[in-house]
Amino acid sequence: MEKTVQLYEGKAKKVYATEDPDKVIVSYKDDATAFDGSKRGTILGKGAINNRMTNYLMQILEKNGIPTHYVEELNDRETVVKRVSIVPLEVIIRNLSAGSFAKRYGVEEGLVFEAPTLEFSYKNDDLHDPLINEYHALALHLATREELSQITAMAFKINEILKDYFLQLNVKLVDFKLEFGRLSNGSLVLADEISPDTCRFWDATTNEKLDKDRFRRDLGGVEDAYQEMMRRVLGE
Ligand code: TMP
Ligand code: ASP
Repeated sequence: MEKTVQLYEGKAKKVYATEDPDKVIVSYKDDATAFDGSKRGTILGKGAINNRMTNYLMQILEKNGIPTHYVEELNDRETVVKRVSIVPLEVIIRNLSAGSFAKRYGVEEGLVFEAPTLEFSYKNDDLHDPLINEYHALALHLATREELSQITAMAFKINEILKDYFLQLNVKLVDFKLEFGRLSNGSLVLADEISPDTCRFWDATTNEKLDKDRFRRDLGGVEDAYQEMMRRVLGE
């Protein structure tokens, strides 16, 4: 399958049309941003790692009954995916306190929750992706009631699958962000990516951070952390 015109360029990926109206090609960049794009940089090799890790994890999820947009990996950076219209919600699942949760509620990072939490952010850069509840999402027609309940059920199921999977790699899945899309027939699939950009991964023994927080917080060793997660997931 070949790229035709570029449809979209985001902070970490570009999306191209193909001859097939139901498929697009995603191309992952090494560009990294944080805090609404105010912090910018490059993480060498990130595009290939995020592409390959996302595809590998999406195939595991498919085998476990989660529909995804994944079709076919073309090369290190590029993947054919089903064309979707993205539901403008970032779906965040947390197993341990970290990041904005710890900050908002004034707690330390690393508290283990009795049950995972879920929150939505409204995907809107101009508004800085504000936290939003289900009533507000319905009021703004961002998704239907049925879609919100399907998204919630899928997100918790994805968490159970991925949490167990990463623990086998001696990694705690602290929290992560998902995006869902609608196919042309209206059905929902998991879209976007699952990578060190969109998840917090802590080594289960040392709690060392193996994700984009190393970039966000200037901790150093950013490339090494991405490489280490690649090695644990794909064995290289
Ligand atoms: P947070 O603690 O900053 O709200 O982040 C929660 C999770 O969501 C974390 O794993 C990082 C991920 N995330 C994204 O993928 N994109 C974003 O724009 C933000 C803010 C967080
Ligand atoms: N990627 C997001 C941004 O550039 C935020 C993040 O991942 O921290 O704003």
